[in-house]
Amino acid sequence: MSASQASRITVVGAGHVGMITAQKCAEKELAREIVLLDVLAGRPQGIALDLNQSAAVEGWSSRVLGTNDPAATAGSELVIVTAGKPRTPGMSRSDLLLVNGKIVESVADYVRVRSPDAIVIVVTNPLDPMTALMRAKLAFPARRVLGMAGVLDGARLSWFLAEELGVGVADVDAMVLGAHGDSMVPLPRASTVNGVPVGDLLEKGAIARISERTQNGGAEIVNLLKTGSAFFAPASGAVAMAKAILRDEKRLLPSTCLLNGEFGFEGVYVGVPAVLGRNGVERIHEVPLDTQARIAMQKTVGAIQKDVDALRQLGLM
Ligand code: LAC
Repeated sequence: MSASQASRITVVGAGHVGMITAQKCAEKELAREIVLLDVLAGRPQGIALDLNQSAAVEGWSSRVLGTNDPAATAGSELVIVTAGKPRTPGMSRSDLLLVNGKIVESVADYVRVRSPDAIVIVVTNPLDPMTALMRAKLAFPARRVLGMAGVLDGARLSWFLAEELGVGVADVDAMVLGAHGDSMVPLPRASTVNGVPVGDLLEKGAIARISERTQNGGAEIVNLLKTGSAFFAPASGAVAMAKAILRDEKRLLPSTCLLNGEFGFEGVYVGVPAVLGRNGVERIHEVPLDTQARIAMQKTVGAIQKDVDALRQLGLM
């Protein structure tokens, strides 16, 4: 058991992402108790039973509690929110604004009261406006409300680069900023293979093609699965952020954070490089952007603001 283990964390939503997130949190022993909460009767309980039984083989010592009762989440140090409808083929993430906005609102209602000191990582789509909505409803300090997207989008870019170059993905570091949507901003200039800039290894055309595939990376999987969206890499992204926070790792991970003048934007939640530690978002790093990336950041912030305006029109914010 780790010395820096939290006593309780909560994963909201026992769909594919939530289920795998709970499993990874348990296997890494991020907390003594991992609460898996879902509205569906039986599902979180069944998953928790199965997971706890797997511990007999795997040897981890966290305990997973499956429940439909928000009261069981009380005093959570960290809450990962995965609840929501996934996309199906032909849908954009923004098509989920109303249905998932209502879910985020209901989650915020009990997290605010029952876990007032929690750090909250939002995974629910459309990610950036849902994180903004969560912050608005919780009224927690912004450093304690953040969203998971850049780690996932960066992982996709890393994988495509590794495949193109025929190198192990563990050696590839790739950065993606901006919204978790078609307007996301891959930063090939900030992407390396063991320190070697990818621009030294690949032609411009190949980099452009891979960047575009990354922007459509979620839809590519939705179209293959047909019944839902990706879950392994989203769960990995959320757990990497949770671990950085709970273990105070000070990792620099692209995270959806509230900007306060950084990159020239004010009051908007968008993916930027952030140092994550026990206080949540401890620092935002303003990496230098070339003209193309700066224009792309303007565009991506515009797309997020459009969704946030739609949330206001729907009366949710
Ligand atoms: C994706 C969805 C989950 O990017 O947003 O796979």
